[in-house]
Amino acid sequence: MTKRIVSRTYFPDLKLSVKLLIIVAFVGLLITALARHVLPPDLLANTAEAATPLDIGQDCKKCHAAIVEAFPRNVHGKSAKFLEGARSASCETCHANPEKHVKTGKKEDITSPAKMPAKEINSSCLQCHSQDRHTFAWQGSKHDRKDVSCLSCHTQHHPKNEENMLAATTTEETCLRCHTSVRKAVYQRSSHLIRSEHGNMKVGCTSCHNPHGGQTDKMLVEETVNNTCYGCHAEKRGPFLWEHPPARENCMSCHSPHGASNTRLLTQRANLQCQQCHIHMLPRHSTLAGKPLDIWTLNRGCVNCHSQVHGSNHPGGRTFTR
Ligand code: HEC
Ligand code: HEC
Ligand code: HEC
Ligand code: HEC
Ligand code: HEC
Ligand code: HEC
Ligand code: HEC
Ligand code: HEC
Ligand code: HEC
Ligand code: HEC
Repeated sequence: MTKRIVSRTYFPDLKLSVKLLIIVAFVGLLITALARHVLPPDLLANTAEAATPLDIGQDCKKCHAAIVEAFPRNVHGKSAKFLEGARSASCETCHANPEKHVKTGKKEDITSPAKMPAKEINSSCLQCHSQDRHTFAWQGSKHDRKDVSCLSCHTQHHPKNEENMLAATTTEETCLRCHTSVRKAVYQRSSHLIRSEHGNMKVGCTSCHNPHGGQTDKMLVEETVNNTCYGCHAEKRGPFLWEHPPARENCMSCHSPHGASNTRLLTQRANLQCQQCHIHMLPRHSTLAGKPLDIWTLNRGCVNCHSQVHGSNHPGGRTFTR
């Protein structure tokens, strides 16, 4: 008696289990099919549909051997995502209408992004890059509005910096070709463009700017200047018991972001820095040298005593002396 019940529960009649089997198999197939569209393409790279880098440009090899041979080694050629079936990348992705050109070898018969106006170059690259984490804000960015193109900084076939396909050896050199006025920052008394012992940039242009656009006019990586700074100088964020309004408002009230001829990236010499705002209201200070609370103290000026200019958490820190 008991045996029968058990066997019923665990082994239902054959018809039902066949039906179930069919349903399970169907659902399985459906999931696999869906996954091809949902999963990141690189997970699917090994499937038969993906082109191999070596398939690309066979029609062109005869006349452009160097480019075709180099292609599998560059970022696009190496990327499984780039080569994946759905996007079916090939030379034609960027050089439309090659059929006639392959026969004639005439320049006029093929398109090249290099010859297009900035807007067209950009949309040619953005057909794939408009959703990327770093490039999605391109449209309407300062660079976009000023007709800078992807090829102002990147190159497809002749990169000096392979990793990001840059036209110059480093990110900084890429930028400083045009932003010459920022170059002096590298050599100033205090500079924010800091290298590690291996010569790599520890703080470089893209630590604070996104050349592909951002939420501010100056294309900062965060939505305000201060949030950009807090990214690395978290202790300046506070919260403080005693806030110093200019520090809360904008770090640029006292600092220059790139470099300065004063210590600590200050925009003015230490003793003048504070007096832009405070010269009229110093009743407790002596203006005579040598007297107590003499404001003319040299060296770090006001900061000799007001050492917590960014804000204080000391109960007695109202004037930022502790
Ligand atoms: C029969 C030889 C030949 C074949 C095949 C060929 N090309 Fe060319 N290609 C040329 C020559 C010659 C030039 C002109 C070079 C010059 O004047 O500097 C050229 C120029 C180009 C240019 C530059 C156009 C410009 O406006 O500056 C592109 C892009 C190009 N080829 C792409 C391709 C692609 C992609 C293929 C394969 C689909 C291909 N070519 C196949 C001979 C060929
Ligand atoms: C057919 C789609 C497609 C087109 C068109 C395309 N890209 Fe890409 N690009 C990719 C893919 C896919 C990757 C690799 C991303 C990965 O593997 O993570 C990539 C990588 C890159 C990278 C390097 C990113 C990294 O993570 O190192 C740069 C830079 C880049 N592309 C710039 C460009 C520029 C500039 C153009 C226009 C001349 C362009 N791309 C056109 C699809 C494309
Ligand atoms: C003003 C110079 C400049 C312009 C213009 C520019 N880029 Fe870049 N791009 C860079 C630099 C520099 C990097 C390397 C980022 C770094 O140093 O972290 C980069 C990186 C990238 C990457 C890799 C980002 C990642 O996720 O690592 C892609 C993709 C890319 N650029 C695509 C584009 C496309 C597409 C365009 C045109 C719409 C474009 N870039 C225009 C300078 C530029
Ligand atoms: C992601 C877009 C892209 C793909 C894919 C691509 N090219 Fe180009 N090609 C460019 C751009 C951009 C230029 C302009 C010069 C540069 O940036 O290197 C160019 C320039 C050229 C030129 C002009 C000569 C030169 O040295 O600049 C030739 C020839 C050429 N490509 C051939 C090819 C061939 C062959 C393939 C396939 C193996 C190919 N391209 C794939 C974007 C692409
Ligand atoms: C091909 C030249 C060129 C290159 C290379 C270039 N820029 Fe620019 N950049 C411009 C132009 C043009 C403007 C608009 C300037 C203006 O409106 O006064 C601009 C504006 C800016 C601005 C906003 C400045 C302002 O005054 O509004 C920042 C920030 C910036 N670029 C950062 C960078 C960074 C970071 C790089 C390197 C990754 C870079 N740029 C590379 C041409 C370039
Ligand atoms: C520590 C962060 C930081 C770094 C690193 C940095 N910038 Fe800036 N940059 C800023 C801030 C902040 C501003 C001013 C924003 C404002 O006033 O709204 C600025 C402004 C600019 C401007 C506008 C004009 C000017 O001089 O004020 C340009 C152009 C610029 N940066 C380019 C660069 C380039 C090129 C590099 C790399 C050599 C670089 N920046 C590195 C933070 C930085
Ligand atoms: C990518 C990280 C990073 C960002 C973002 C950053 N800094 Fe820095 N900053 C550093 C590093 C690293 C140092 C060197 C610290 C040291 O020498 O101990 C430094 C040093 C400084 C110094 C002292 C300079 C000196 O000569 O001693 C000041 C002032 C400063 N930063 C202000 C700012 C301001 C203002 C911002 C926002 C515009 C900012 N930082 C954004 C990393 C960053
Ligand atoms: C009212 C002017 C003023 C403002 C605004 C200001 N600072 Fe400073 N900062 C200074 C002075 C003065 C020094 C030098 C202190 C010293 O020599 O002890 C300094 C030093 C620094 C230093 C290096 C020494 C340290 O304390 O770590 C960093 C980093 C720094 N500031 C970051 C920032 C950031 C981030 C902001 C914005 C939140 C900011 N500062 C806003 C005046 C200011
Ligand atoms: C951009 C203008 C500006 C600069 C530069 C500036 N401050 Fe201030 N500071 C203010 C403002 C605004 C207040 C708030 C005044 C108030 O609450 O009455 C303030 C408050 C203070 C207070 C507290 C005063 C009180 O009565 O509570 C001290 C102390 C002080 N600042 C010191 C400094 C020192 C030291 C420097 C130079 C490192 C400096 N400030 C640079 C604008 C500035
Ligand atoms: C020798 C130390 C010393 C120096 C240097 C100094 N202060 Fe002060 N400051 C003080 C003391 C102490 C107080 C009063 C603190 C209190 O009452 O809690 C004060 C108070 C202030 C106050 C609050 C308003 C007031 O007068 O009570 C301001 C603003 C201020 N100082 C700004 C400055 C500025 C700007 C400089 C540089 C030009 C400067 N201090 C240099 C020690 C100094």
